[in-house]
Amino acid sequence: MYDKVMETVNYLQNKVEYRPKVAIILGSGLGDLVDYIEERVEIDYEEIPNFPVSTVAGHAGKLVFGKIGGVEVLAMKGRFHFYEGYEMKQVTYPIYVMKQFGIEKLVVSNAAGGSNKDFEPGTLMLITDHINFFGTHPLIGRNDDRFGPRFPDMTNTYNKDLQELAKATAKEMGIEYREGVYLGTTGPSYETAAEVRAFTMLGADAIGMSTVPEATVANYLGMEILGISCITNMATGIAKESHSHEAVVEIAKRTGKNFCNWVAETVKRMS
Ligand code: HPA
Repeated sequence: MYDKVMETVNYLQNKVEYRPKVAIILGSGLGDLVDYIEERVEIDYEEIPNFPVSTVAGHAGKLVFGKIGGVEVLAMKGRFHFYEGYEMKQVTYPIYVMKQFGIEKLVVSNAAGGSNKDFEPGTLMLITDHINFFGTHPLIGRNDDRFGPRFPDMTNTYNKDLQELAKATAKEMGIEYREGVYLGTTGPSYETAAEVRAFTMLGADAIGMSTVPEATVANYLGMEILGISCITNMATGIAKESHSHEAVVEIAKRTGKNFCNWVAETVKRMS
């Protein structure tokens, strides 16, 4: 895998002059952040050697290089979900590439269901920690010590300093946010009401179908992580209505402006 990753990295290095240290993964409905990126260079995933091949027709997504307020960034518009049938190593492949490309800080975002009854749709949640409920782990298999240790520590996965930076930024900008624990499950169905009750007892504030694999690998690779969930709906049983992907994307888009302003300003202060 190391050689494959380096091949992808070489391709990207030849393609763009940017050498960002900050990357951003844009969750469902949060892709508008791309508009905040100046002097963009965009590369479709299809063009990138060794990137996972999309299982669905149409656009899998793209890498977007550019600058936010003078800070070079690399954004992933569209991610690879486990529920699409990708192996965990494919879901997290871009993270390995990022690391070898020189990325030191990763902002990871997602749309999620709120299991904390104090939340409401449209809440932005700073992720303080996560629970891996995928029933598997992205680092299973022979370990390559060039990437990271066999038994990575997860104490400071969601970096405390980055959390403080995001909080201070939100305060100054008058952006409301909450803090909480993100629980990641495979999907693709939304949870049952009983599952949501169980997950709440386990300590979940938000539930989603991504982020845990990427954050786990980014931490293993030694990257600092900032995680933000956009609560698009109350989780099953708390919500009065049933869920639809369309409604999830709609709410994410509506909350998107606050999300984009917050992330953009926080990234500017990361340099
Ligand atoms: N559950 C899981 N994933 C989600 C949800 C949810 O309620 N909303 C958005 N993504």
